[in-house]
Amino acid sequence: MELDVIRTLSNLSLFLQVIAFLMLVYAIKLKTEGIDQHARGASLAVFTIIPTILFMFYSISQGFQLASYGIVLLLHRLLGSIVLIFIILFVTNRWRFKKKVHMDIATGLWMVTLIMGIIVYLISFGYIA
Ligand code: HEM
Repeated sequence: MELDVIRTLSNLSLFLQVIAFLMLVYAIKLKTEGIDQHARGASLAVFTIIPTILFMFYSISQGFQLASYGIVLLLHRLLGSIVLIFIILFVTNRWRFKKKVHMDIATGLWMVTLIMGIIVYLISFGYIA
């Protein structure tokens, strides 16, 4: 793919990731209104990241690497994979893993993964040398 196409997809992906996280924060607030509202909001956040996850896996298939700070990408991929596993457990109603403590861990990891993703973005486009 051409570089400006990749850049546009990366920008879009970053935008969707930030919006999805804001949705998640809102879904957490909705807990006080009822568990159904909370579940609907959280599901919407998960749907929003699906295209970005596809893009990230596409990038990996193309051999995406960082010129520097490779460890950030490695940790991002590791933590992001743990978040995905939690999401799968939540949406498939594995009740043993669908407790508040697991959701707190998943939210914390999602936030750290997002911050690392933003750093990956800044490194890959040369904003951080
Ligand atoms: C909830 C989980 C995740 C979040 C919030 C997240 C967030 C982000 C963000 C914001 C970026 C920078 C924007 C972009 O280029 O897309 C990014 C890039 C990237 N992420 Fe993730 N990510 C997650 C999961 C994963 C997973 C599971 C993997 C791989 C196992 C992964 C691999 C990558 C790669 C390779 C890039 C660079 C893509 C590129 O610009 O070409 N991410 N991620």
